[in-house]
Amino acid sequence: MSALRLSRRSALRLFGGAGMAAVLAPTLAGCAKPGSDGINPGTLKSKAKLPAPFTVPLPILKPLAPDSTDAQGVHYSMTLKQAEVEILPGYQTKIFGYNGTFPGPYLDVHAGTPVVVHQTNQLPVPIVTHLHGGLTPPSEDGFPTDLVFPQALADMADPGMAASMSGMDGMPSMTDPLARMTAVRRDYVFPLNQRAATLWYHDHRMDFTGAQVWRGLFGLCVVRDAEDDKLPLPKGEREIPLMIADRAFDGDGQLIYPEKDPTLLGKPSMDKSIAAGAQGDVVLVNGAPWPYLEVAAVKYRLRILNASNARRYELKLDGPGGGEFIQVGSDGGLLAAPVTHSTLAMASAERFDVVVDFSKYPVGSTVTLKNAADSGGPGLVMQFKVTSQAADDSSVPATLSTIDKPAVDGAKRKLVFSLQGDKWQINGKDFDPAHPLLKPVFGKTEEWTVTSVERHSVHVHGAHFQVTARGTGGAGEYDHGWKDTVELSPGSEVKFAIRFDSYRGRYVAHCHNLEHEDMAMMAAIQVV
Ligand code: C2O
Ligand code: CU
Repeated sequence: MSALRLSRRSALRLFGGAGMAAVLAPTLAGCAKPGSDGINPGTLKSKAKLPAPFTVPLPILKPLAPDSTDAQGVHYSMTLKQAEVEILPGYQTKIFGYNGTFPGPYLDVHAGTPVVVHQTNQLPVPIVTHLHGGLTPPSEDGFPTDLVFPQALADMADPGMAASMSGMDGMPSMTDPLARMTAVRRDYVFPLNQRAATLWYHDHRMDFTGAQVWRGLFGLCVVRDAEDDKLPLPKGEREIPLMIADRAFDGDGQLIYPEKDPTLLGKPSMDKSIAAGAQGDVVLVNGAPWPYLEVAAVKYRLRILNASNARRYELKLDGPGGGEFIQVGSDGGLLAAPVTHSTLAMASAERFDVVVDFSKYPVGSTVTLKNAADSGGPGLVMQFKVTSQAADDSSVPATLSTIDKPAVDGAKRKLVFSLQGDKWQINGKDFDPAHPLLKPVFGKTEEWTVTSVERHSVHVHGAHFQVTARGTGGAGEYDHGWKDTVELSPGSEVKFAIRFDSYRGRYVAHCHNLEHEDMAMMAAIQVV
């Protein structure tokens, strides 16, 4: 890992400070087409020829093979590069991909065994990688200013140039003296001292996360452990990860994301049309548009991730006689006991680990996974075709795990997520990487109360939490178990108990509507 000579101040001026909100047109609220909750963005419309729904097979994710295993852990390599891949039949779409794939490679790993991901940045832009849901030391957590620069940018960064840059533009100076910047290569070490759970990794570059994830910088990571492995839940080919993400495609089959500067190297700015969050009209699952999967009439474990930038889903199973999801896990792993849902409401970045019993459906039937939160293309997700009978020795036990309820013995904090004029903010402040807004005490269980008049997806790095209340009621039906991301509906309040007891140091909390995040709806945390 070579240190970069670029002065940190000039790097932030060059490649992004938290000043994006300041360069937005004045009336953000009036620009994006509001949805029924006043905040849902309009949908970007594709011009490419789209396939008929349920005609493309679901890509089954295959675990990435490690390079080696040694005393440090299991080693994987990923080169971040531009590539052209077939997402829509008949088109080659330019993407940014880990190893050039969309989505990135699937990491199938074990709790307690450290994983080292050796990344090489061959993209034309700086990157940062965050393992979402990982309990990771701050140095490895992908703090948004811990940039990994491509060679070309590292080469041109010399002290003389840094001096000539200073004071050059009208950007608010947002220096981060603590940023750990590197050139080209970065090894991320993830200790994974945590429960089995469905995690994912994605880009987290300050001010540009939305654009870079949209282009393809996201991938799945399933953490396993002995407790989860020994349960009689469906396994092997009957455990299917489903990464749901919406996109839109132009007439040439290229991704539409209306950034003002497609190089992503200039001053951060965001097109008004997506300032409330970018949504596309094509729903992709594991990178395929409205795919289908042939299943036997047996139980399957579906690990569902909402990997969309901003879209929320209300998933429903539409088959003969209806359909239900038996939830066995959440963001932070197994629930104490299964919970049955007829609908799954999923905010951006949430995970639901569910069992679906296809033995209820006759062979020859189809079961469509729909999104009741929208209609037309975005109202459809994928389809299961029940094609055969098979033996099934799996079951969903009445007790899955033990979840201790944390008793609050620390501070009570309030976080207000708000649109202030043209800015998305937390507690009335823009993201300031150098000045932590929140200083939780290591090992204490704190109670955080988050409120907003708009809809947001609230995510905290460095610790998992348990929702204790929504407004004056108890936790909601989608709040079971350990969480790292929770939906805040418009005009609501959510309370959760959170204990930072993995590592001390610097993390972030932010809205996981990636366009809100890029426009400063993020706070630095210092665990003391
Ligand atoms: Cu999924 Cu801070 O990220
Ligand atoms: Cu938000």
